[in-house]
Amino acid sequence: MTSVTVLGLGPMGHALASALSSQHPTTVWSRTPGRADDLDAEVADTAPLAIAASPLVVVCVRDQEVTRAVLDPAFLPGRTVLSFSGGTPEEARDLAAWVRSHRGEYVDGVVVATPEAIGTAEAAFYLSGPKAAVEQHAPTLLALGENLQHLGEDPGRGAALDAALQDMLWTSMSGVVHMLALARAEGLSIGQVAEQATALLGFFPDFVGALAEQVATASYPGDLGTLDSTAGVMDHVLRTIRANDLDDAVLSASREQVQRAIDAGHGDDGFGRLADTLSTVVRR
Ligand SMILES: NC(=O)c1ccc[n+]([C@@H]2O[C@H](COP(=O)([O-])OP(=O)(O)OC[C@H]3O[C@@H](n4cnc5c(N)ncnc54)[C@H](OP(=O)(O)O)[C@@H]3O)[C@@H](O)[C@H]2O)c1
Repeated sequence: MTSVTVLGLGPMGHALASALSSQHPTTVWSRTPGRADDLDAEVADTAPLAIAASPLVVVCVRDQEVTRAVLDPAFLPGRTVLSFSGGTPEEARDLAAWVRSHRGEYVDGVVVATPEAIGTAEAAFYLSGPKAAVEQHAPTLLALGENLQHLGEDPGRGAALDAALQDMLWTSMSGVVHMLALARAEGLSIGQVAEQATALLGFFPDFVGALAEQVATASYPGDLGTLDSTAGVMDHVLRTIRANDLDDAVLSASREQVQRAIDAGHGDDGFGRLADTLSTVVRR
């Protein structure tokens, strides 16, 4: 059995350490003592001691700046660092070059799961960086879940995928809380609206598939709905939002994106057309 180290025991780091320690000798370190009390793991007093303990060092802290701060370069030779900390593609590439300059390997990781799902078939892990390092440590990492995918040698790919997925997640989450605020302002039952929204979201995978097809083929048929008709829907929702004195910034921004595409002559196209016209945005 290969040993593994986990640095950072926030909600996600703790879940990773818990799954790894159920199958492998595991050493952990966290800035705040006591986070490992319920783990079947060796607790190191310092990050360097934890790094020294294992060939694979999993880092899961607030961001990549903290990742670099907890990695003592003197202990990196011969180690593979796998960081699940959030950051940009550029930060991942810089960190990879820095780890390599200290004779270690760097793999960037993305967790698509909640902490509770770690170790189950629902969790997905996307890794980017040297394939040989990913293959070497995959048998250990399988303790986290079966769905491990290598995205390619460029260490920035994981962070790029993460940014794309989180872009969708947080604009959607913003829509969810806005929906709940509007429902409450209109005196609707929050519980019932949540159920009705969940039913609507059942169609979401189809929307993602249809839009992906449009963007991948750069063809934007409006047969399921045109931008002109979407603009009309957004306008009456915006009127309802404003009548309730709620912040309309997010939907207004989306409405402006639709208008730019219409003004460019794409009113008969489908919603996927926005992927093209977004790149013409003048930064605020
Ligand atoms: N939670 C999720 O559902 C989820 C899902 C996917 C990806 N992630 C990613 O996983 C990473 C960790 O997330 P998280 O939810 O576990 O909690 P978090 O609050 O983002 O990170 C907390 C961890 O970072 C450590 N930390 C922060 N500043 C530090 C510093 N200056 N020096 C040393 N350690 C420091 C904290 O230490 P202390 O314990 O001492 O405060 C704690 O261990 C994030 O980058 C996040 O994007 C999280």
